[in-house]
Amino acid sequence: MTDIAKGLEGVLFTESKLTFINGSEGILTHLGIPIQEWAEKSTFEELSCALLAGKLPTAAELAKFDAALRANREVPADLLKEISSFPPHANPMQMLRTAISALGLYDPQSEDTSEEARSAISIRLIAQFSTIIAAIARVRGRQDIVAPRADLTHAANFLYMLTGKEPTSEQARLFDIALVLHVDHGMNASTFTAIATSSTLSDMYSCMVSAIGALKGPLHGGANEAVMVMLDEIGTPDKAADFITAKLDRHEKIMGVGHRVYKNFDPRSRVLRDYAEHVASKEGKSNYYQILETIEKIVVDRMGARGIYPNVDFYSGTVYADLGIEKEFFTPIFALARISGWCASVIEYTRDNRLLRPDAVYSGATDQHYVELQDRN
Ligand code: COA
Repeated sequence: MTDIAKGLEGVLFTESKLTFINGSEGILTHLGIPIQEWAEKSTFEELSCALLAGKLPTAAELAKFDAALRANREVPADLLKEISSFPPHANPMQMLRTAISALGLYDPQSEDTSEEARSAISIRLIAQFSTIIAAIARVRGRQDIVAPRADLTHAANFLYMLTGKEPTSEQARLFDIALVLHVDHGMNASTFTAIATSSTLSDMYSCMVSAIGALKGPLHGGANEAVMVMLDEIGTPDKAADFITAKLDRHEKIMGVGHRVYKNFDPRSRVLRDYAEHVASKEGKSNYYQILETIEKIVVDRMGARGIYPNVDFYSGTVYADLGIEKEFFTPIFALARISGWCASVIEYTRDNRLLRPDAVYSGATDQHYVELQDRN
């Protein structure tokens, strides 16, 4: 019997210099630098620039990249009109997928698959994802779309476009850190999907549309929203233990825990836990953190030996909720960060491109013959 790598687990299909993960020790690095250092010392702009260039930028290179992002925030007015005409109750990831597909129609360079063009398109995509995601939120909230500002950082400008109010520097920095933690994560399902599309030498916009579709699913980007749904269902910290114990007894999955690669704490969840704790310590905050603490303890006690620990989605929702972001919007926020990882991975893979074309073990019928319609039972 031929072995099948279900879920492509453990299958190595390419080399990458961008991200390293040691799942058993809970280590994540980008360009060899630990994620904790990126979160503490860097910014979304710098990590995006570094992954696209494959090295830490100099001050001048970073300033140039940042200026290019700021200069490319505007999206075509006709596209904004289209977004305004989307049904406001539609799924925001469907809206994002549709908007990015349409964005490609306005880019005269979209069919150019050279590395130079793909790098230029990446900068536009990173900048315009932000404007488009904020516009979708405003349309869903039946509010006027807010135009981007070039004088704000990527994180601050997004929050400004989302809420119509300039965030405090603490809010902007917290959001920036959340973005940094989500920029890239090796060959996750959406990055792999982007690469699979690019391996046919299709255009960058098609790659990103494919990736958005993959990220949308609850086993990938949708998990952080599912965590908040669970927290609201639990309601108060005193109910958390019984709720989770009963769920585990019924062999039901707990959202925000478990990972295909990590068999230890996801290092991103540790960084986010500290911020979630900080958020919870502020006056008048909800019970979310206490509920999560209780769940974490029970999950680690009962499932830790099997390598099941909280992942990045476990605490991210409470941080976003504190910034006033609605839970339906958590997955688009994930996309807002991951766009940089998708672009960098596609560009890297294309340098030594080979069409992705796996195979399946055939287990269907053999030696059959066509039966005329009237002769079938
Ligand atoms: N809660 C409870 N049990 C879990 C679990 C969870 N979140 N995740 C995995 N398990 C258990 C499964 O029930 C299964 O048990 P079994 O062998 O007794 O049937 C075993 O662990 C393997 O699960 P499986 O889903 O096959 O492993 P995977 O490698 O495909 O898991 C995920 C990866 C992410 C799909 C899985 O952990 C999951 O569904 N997590 C919840 C969704 C989530 O948070 N996704 C975000 C990832 S960043």
